Amino acid sequence: MGLRVIWMNTAYIIVNVFVLSVRGHGLENKSAFPKTENFKITEIQFMIAVNATWQGEHGCIAYAFTPALPPGNKWNATQPIKVGGCDKGPFIYNVIPPTDGKSKVSVNVTFFSSDVIDAEPPSCQIPFNGTFLLPSPDGYDDELLPNCFVQDSREGDHLTYFWFKIFDWKIQE
Ligand SMILES: *[C@@H]1O[C@H](CO)[C@@H](O)[C@H](O)[C@H]1NC(C)=O
Ligand SMILES: *[C@@H]1O[C@H](CO)[C@@H](O)[C@H](O)[C@H]1NC(C)=O
Ligand SMILES: *[C@@H]1O[C@H](CO)[C@@H](O)[C@H](O)[C@H]1NC(C)=O
Ligand SMILES: *[C@@H]1O[C@H](CO)[C@@H](O)[C@H](O)[C@H]1NC(C)=O
Repeated sequence: MGLRVIWMNTAYIIVNVFVLSVRGHGLENKSAFPKTENFKITEIQFMIAVNATWQGEHGCIAYAFTPALPPGNKWNATQPIKVGGCDKGPFIYNVIPPTDGKSKVSVNVTFFSSDVIDAEPPSCQIPFNGTFLLPSPDGYDDELLPNCFVQDSREGDHLTYFWFKIFDWKIQE
């Protein structure tokens, strides 16, 4: 248990350090304080993680990355995303005014999950400034990637959890 937690934390730090160092190449677009005017998102790559809690005793947990997607697609204009053996479906988003009242925009994501039937597809809004959060001197936050969480069910019964994270993006300024 303890070892596993340490390993997971270590892996997480490595991934974040890697992400931050890769980001270093695009700092002109992805600085901590981007210009506010003409903030136009042209594409985003997302990470989708699901827990289909109803599939087996421990649920079915998997994650996947979407390709870089433009905003405003129709659901039938995108290739379905396969999330391990747990779920699959088209994934779309659009950019809306900030839902938290303090970020630049919110990214409204919708996943047409095959685990959800007879209900609205899972959708949630990610407040976004065009930046990653940086680890603070006091340590790191385990939610450095902008993200939102939502749960949804199949026929009101089989619950699936969804985490949507912004992994990479392009902004036209
Ligand atoms: C996934 O779902 C299973 C079954 O409900 C639960 O035991 C487990 O804690 C969940 N894990 C996460 C990370 O949500
Ligand atoms: C996608 O669905 C819309 C209606 O929801 C329809 O007007 C459009 O023709 C469809 N596009 C494709 C490529 O099937
Ligand atoms: C965006 O920037 C504003 C102002 O600095 C801050 O209050 C807000 O928390 C930031 N949002 C995100 C998602 O980082
Ligand atoms: C988010 O997008 C979905 C799918 O297009 C739409 O049904 C929903 O109303 C949108 N939500 C917000 C808050 O804009």
